[in-house]
Amino acid sequence: MGTAPINLTAALASFDAIYSPRIVARMNDYDVRIAHAQGEHVWHVHQDTDEFFLVLEGRFDIALRNDDGTEHTVALSQGDTFVVPKGTTHKPSSPGGSILMFEPSGTLTTGDDFTGEIPENVDRTVGHELG
Ligand code: NI
Repeated sequence: MGTAPINLTAALASFDAIYSPRIVARMNDYDVRIAHAQGEHVWHVHQDTDEFFLVLEGRFDIALRNDDGTEHTVALSQGDTFVVPKGTTHKPSSPGGSILMFEPSGTLTTGDDFTGEIPENVDRTVGHELG
């Protein structure tokens, strides 16, 4: 982290990887991460933290599993924000877009637990440095 401002448009243009977040800022114990989204993520859960999403571009959907086992999907467009509560199993998907996330440093993209195989377009990571 330097002393210069980070422009999100430039930061997004600096990498192509899908579902492979870059850390653009840290504050207290939290990361601000950005990622390109395309296709299906994997069902997963973060037991100990909520996860904040802001859609920067395009469209981003989050399927959520309800307590009774049914599912519903929240459809997000540019400028929309949403928080996935801790302990809620969820699976993002997107026809193409980019997002900003706010979550504790060390949070894995695929949660503490995930279901099935991790798709090839999903990076199991705690985030990468920019550049
Ligand atoms: Ni998640």
